[in-house]
Amino acid sequence: MNICCIGAGYVGGPTMAMIAKKCSNINVTVVDINEERINAWQSDNLPIYEPGLYDVVQESIGKNLFFSTDVDSAIKKADIIFVSVNTPTKTFGEGAGRASDLQYWELCARRIKEVSESDKIIVEKSTLPVRTAEAMERVLHSNESNLHFEVLSNPEFLAEGTAITDLENPDRVLIGGHDTESGQKALKILVDIYANWISKDKILTSNVWSSELSKLTANAFLAQRVSSINAISALCEATEADVTEVAHAIGTDSRIGSKFLKASIGFGGSCFKKDILNLVYLCESYGLHEVANYWQQVVEINEYQQIRFIRQMIQSMFNTIAGKKILILGFAFKADTGDTRESPAIKICRELYNEKADLIVSDPKATLNAMKDLTDLKNITYEDDPYKAAVGADAIAVLTDWKEYKDLDYKKIFKEMRKPAFIFDGRNFLDHNHLFNIGYEVYSIGKGRLSHLQ
Ligand code: UDX
Ligand code: UDX
Repeated sequence: MNICCIGAGYVGGPTMAMIAKKCSNINVTVVDINEERINAWQSDNLPIYEPGLYDVVQESIGKNLFFSTDVDSAIKKADIIFVSVNTPTKTFGEGAGRASDLQYWELCARRIKEVSESDKIIVEKSTLPVRTAEAMERVLHSNESNLHFEVLSNPEFLAEGTAITDLENPDRVLIGGHDTESGQKALKILVDIYANWISKDKILTSNVWSSELSKLTANAFLAQRVSSINAISALCEATEADVTEVAHAIGTDSRIGSKFLKASIGFGGSCFKKDILNLVYLCESYGLHEVANYWQQVVEINEYQQIRFIRQMIQSMFNTIAGKKILILGFAFKADTGDTRESPAIKICRELYNEKADLIVSDPKATLNAMKDLTDLKNITYEDDPYKAAVGADAIAVLTDWKEYKDLDYKKIFKEMRKPAFIFDGRNFLDHNHLFNIGYEVYSIGKGRLSHLQ
């Protein structure tokens, strides 16, 4: 069997590498129009940082896993085509700022139709608005042809930073297919591929629309938990409650559960905001304005949380940060990834820059992406070594929960900083009492400040 995946990004690359590893009898070819990316997949320097990914790729590359820019040949050969191209939020026209931009998806469908010489199963891997499969089927079957294209929806639930474990041992795999003979046949073929390493009870099947909507809903629910606890963090700061204690207390209720209750500077990443905005747009287009408003609020709280953090930094540093040196510790949207898409660090850095702060950005994996995100801001310094970066700083803002930031020698750093030395823990994961005892002014999210000042 031959599989082709169009789109060698954060989703396509790791997912196909795992299928190749687990199914030695299947040839997997990942194609992309971006030659630099394809070359990087074939090198020792993969285009994305993901723990464990390099070993998984090395196990199969050149045997049954191939990366190529020859999209047409891979389509021709394939029995199954996964489409994993990006579907960013539309920046123009109808639905701008909310709807998904499906132009890449449609281009893929047209290409598939044009070059195919045999029947194919087309698998939607990208997150798409509900009923996209229908539109794509129309494109695929739009002119005289004896070929049959069966569209399945198979959303990816992996999270960055844990992609390999998520792929190897997922909570569930979801596959949506049509309730027709050919739909059910295609669905069974895909189920059997995953069954090579995932137990059948974890492979859920549904109709195509439920599968498409489940992906948007899963991300909306996860993001909603983060916004809910972040909303409560503002109330904690006003009342002297401690958000970590509140999260722990509610999380031990098995109906609520403990995951995704970490208060923070807000969620980032390529999916949460995009998918919620997409859900909002979908609701509005069906006239469900109350439902749309409900979900929109999740995004608004996320933005409010970032603004609150910035305001707190400025206010606590005596209402002016002009000329003050601020070390940004962590720029990635979460730990264990170099990805900075929608990272709260982008907005925070831009606002601090507008206040004329002197910024120095440090991150173990994301400084190159940070440079691209902030390319129009002049005089920002990038320094991988946090100790060097902290020399002469007035404040440290911890924006990503990298494990190594927990274990830094904060005493040594304190000695090199200007006084009073401020630390703003945007991830609530440092030992605040320890920092306070060293001499820092400590601010976190949803907890009282620890201050030596009057
Ligand atoms: C994925 C999903 O596709 C997206 O819908 C989901 O919401 C997030 O995860 P991701 O893998 O993170 O996206 O995107 P990206 O890393 O940008 O990769 C997409 C790749 O598709 C890029 O390398 C791009 O060059 C490629 N592409 C895009 C094509 O090969 N052909 C195209 O026509 C368009
Ligand atoms: C998410 C979904 O988890 C995944 O299933 C889907 O396939 C893609 O979108 P990802 O964006 O990679 O994955 O990371 P995730 O771990 O969900 O974190 C998203 C954001 O929320 C990060 O910025 C993270 O720091 C933040 N977050 C998460 C919190 O602020 N608090 C939490 O308790 C959890």
